[in-house]
Amino acid sequence: MEGKKKIFSGIQPTNTPHLGNYLGAMVNWVKLQDEYDCTYSIVDLHSITIRQDPVKLRNQIKESYALLIAMGLDPEKSTLFVQGHNPNHAELSWILSCYTQFGELSRMTQFKDKSAKHPDNVNAGLFTYPVLMAADILLYQADLVPVGVDQSQHLELARNIVQRFNGIYGDVFTMPEGYITKATAKVMSLQEPTKKMSKSDENPNASVWILDDKDTIIRKFKRAVTDSETEVCAREGKDGIINLMSIYSAVTNKSFEEIEREFAGKGYGDFKLAVGEAVADMLAPMQAEFKRIFADKAYLENCMKQGAEKAYKASRKTLQKVQKKVGFVTF
Ligand code: TRP
Repeated sequence: MEGKKKIFSGIQPTNTPHLGNYLGAMVNWVKLQDEYDCTYSIVDLHSITIRQDPVKLRNQIKESYALLIAMGLDPEKSTLFVQGHNPNHAELSWILSCYTQFGELSRMTQFKDKSAKHPDNVNAGLFTYPVLMAADILLYQADLVPVGVDQSQHLELARNIVQRFNGIYGDVFTMPEGYITKATAKVMSLQEPTKKMSKSDENPNASVWILDDKDTIIRKFKRAVTDSETEVCAREGKDGIINLMSIYSAVTNKSFEEIEREFAGKGYGDFKLAVGEAVADMLAPMQAEFKRIFADKAYLENCMKQGAEKAYKASRKTLQKVQKKVGFVTF
């Protein structure tokens, strides 16, 4: 591990990931694990900033954890853990909140968006969400943080906290950088192809969940919104077709030109079926692995426990250093 750069990233256990999460972020997590010292967390603490059903949440935390392993993350090689299993996160978050200004948090666009979406539950956790995210990253002295653009403002805040804290106390935290992976594919909604595929879309045909079965996947692709033409090509205004082409390209590694040639003279029906089948076939081995792991409760629990222990040990040094620096009495 020594000498390797450190990576930290988190994923919320709300809803099963969709094809966009998978091709956009999760596939990259797997690729990074050989080159970097990676720590990945299921961020259950973050998820309760929006009201959750406890039974569903508990299930989704386990499901998300099993999915990470099924996707190819190796719990021996990387640290995979549930955020709430390591109390250091909540504790550092409190300390950092005293080094974060009210005004800074008020400017976070995600806070404004989520407050507007849930006006009946604008809780303090939603407001301090980015501080907890900073604590996640800083506890592990991460050099790089793979995040989508929607999280870049939060990462910028974490960087400001580092600058402020290190400015007062010396070099305590590593300055983290965003690791903007070129998404394998930017996946748009199958129903409104100018909008990103989203976990919270109300339309059941808009998103493909990575645990959907083959029939469901094919049905959703068959219903994908396209245009009134018949030609499979990436022309302006053909957002639906372009979306399907980039998904097909990500899954098969074929270029747009090759795809155009493959479907020249064929209709959208054939193309949609081919995309659906390609996606279903790509997901099938991971889904089988998921089923096996999810059914093995003892194995899953054991991995979670070991991950939590590894995470606790790796983060304890940072927390103790912080406690000392701010003037707490430590033993
Ligand atoms: N806020 C991130 C999201 O919703 C999840 C997250 C929590 C995270 N802590 C993190 C991402 C630390 C990167 C690093 O996507």
